[in-house]
Amino acid sequence: MLKISKAFFRQQSNVINLSIRALSTGTNSQEADFGFKKVKYEEKQAKVNEVFNNVAEKYDLMNDAMSFGLHRLWKNQFIQDIEPTPGMRLIDVAGGTGDITFRYLNYLKNLNPGHFDNSRDIVATVCDINENMLNVGKDRSINLGFQDKINWKVGNAENLILEKENTYDVYTIAFGIRNCTNLENVLKEAYRVLKPGGRFMCLEFSRTENPVFKRVYDFYSFQMIPVMGYLIAGDWNSYQYLVESIRMFPSQDEFASLISDCGFRLVSYKNLTNGAVAIHSGFKF
Ligand SMILES: C[S@@+](CC[C@H](N)C(=O)[O-])C[C@H]1O[C@@H](n2cnc3c(N)ncnc32)[C@H](O)[C@@H]1O
Repeated sequence: MLKISKAFFRQQSNVINLSIRALSTGTNSQEADFGFKKVKYEEKQAKVNEVFNNVAEKYDLMNDAMSFGLHRLWKNQFIQDIEPTPGMRLIDVAGGTGDITFRYLNYLKNLNPGHFDNSRDIVATVCDINENMLNVGKDRSINLGFQDKINWKVGNAENLILEKENTYDVYTIAFGIRNCTNLENVLKEAYRVLKPGGRFMCLEFSRTENPVFKRVYDFYSFQMIPVMGYLIAGDWNSYQYLVESIRMFPSQDEFASLISDCGFRLVSYKNLTNGAVAIHSGFKF
């Protein structure tokens, strides 16, 4: 009874919130955050795609410049936490230019170079909504000699239409989920495509509670990163969006709750660099 009442009141409050929002914007459409701006729900993805179209060519260079190379340490830690083993099937969603997948493959190669080189198995699927990002990744995979190990697929994390359920052992999403419009849809799709026993792993910018660090970090993010974006990639607005989108993403605990609500068990997270970045993990049972 209590459950029914709670659900009922939550539903009513959602209806009221939506009506107030519709009244205040003069439309019937739902809204989504695009950085600090509100945009129509159905328009957000196109705006995100425009950002990554603009930054694709300079994306890897900018990652190094903006994070002083720290993104490499975060990504390496992420891969170590996955503990890849031969035979595992990985899907790296919002995989962009392939950085996570290349590190994953390098880890496996170092584990057993002979087996890795002789095996003809496809080891990983990289999926991203943006073909320009994937094209940069494909070129990189050729330079790294990984072209035969990866399937590249254009797809939306919120609706992985090309993927069957119960397919993958590991699902990764790194610095990607905060760009998606509906986090719940992404998590439900992750749950669907993972095998029972499979693991969801997310690397994402998060919240730092250390007041001194936060002050420096905020100054750096808002005063320096858009300027660097302009100087290095010729694009201020895309990098302004990137720093704003980080601030709009749920806290570590809020995101962990959402992961649990979508069916995952043994949900946990670990902070890196004072919580500026967090690794979330959950299992499908
Ligand atoms: C910041 S990049 C991260 C790329 C890569 N994972 C990395 O760590 O370097 C974010 C990526 O998310 C992708 N993306 C945004 N919305 C998406 C969606 N709905 N479905 C799939 N990919 C999406 C973008 O195209 C972009 O390549």
